[in-house]
Amino acid sequence: MKKILVINGPNLNLLGEREPGVYGSAGIDELCANIRERAEKAGMECDFFQSNHEGAIIDKLHEARKIYSGVILNAGAYTHYSYAIRDAISAVKIPVIEVHISNVDAREEFRSNSVIAPVCSGSIAGFGFMSYYLAVQALAEM
Ligand code: DQA
Repeated sequence: MKKILVINGPNLNLLGEREPGVYGSAGIDELCANIRERAEKAGMECDFFQSNHEGAIIDKLHEARKIYSGVILNAGAYTHYSYAIRDAISAVKIPVIEVHISNVDAREEFRSNSVIAPVCSGSIAGFGFMSYYLAVQALAEM
């Protein structure tokens, strides 16, 4: 069975509490349960990882290369400046899909720049939690 990994970066553990007008009122546990349900329906097993630390996200990406056939990554604010996460994505040869809950292009200017987008297989933003569900569908069909 195809296995995928969902990585959530900094501050995403506070989903539900954090800026609900931007990120919604549901928490990360509900998000993960919904993703798992969709992944299983698509015939895939799904694991989850959340960290507020850049190095921990990089370590997880390295580990993932031997275990998973794809990764869904919401790198949070690291998206906009972490060349180290970008290099980790390039180093692992499995597909990584960049996701964002909010429409990053419709917010502050710094959010329009993603340093990881050029090394990801694709990017999905602005659909709320559905951004992750669309990424699940993309990995299922890749
Ligand atoms: C985010 C967008 C980022 O700009 C922000 O720093 C986040 C969440 C999103 O999912 O919309 O932490 O990645």
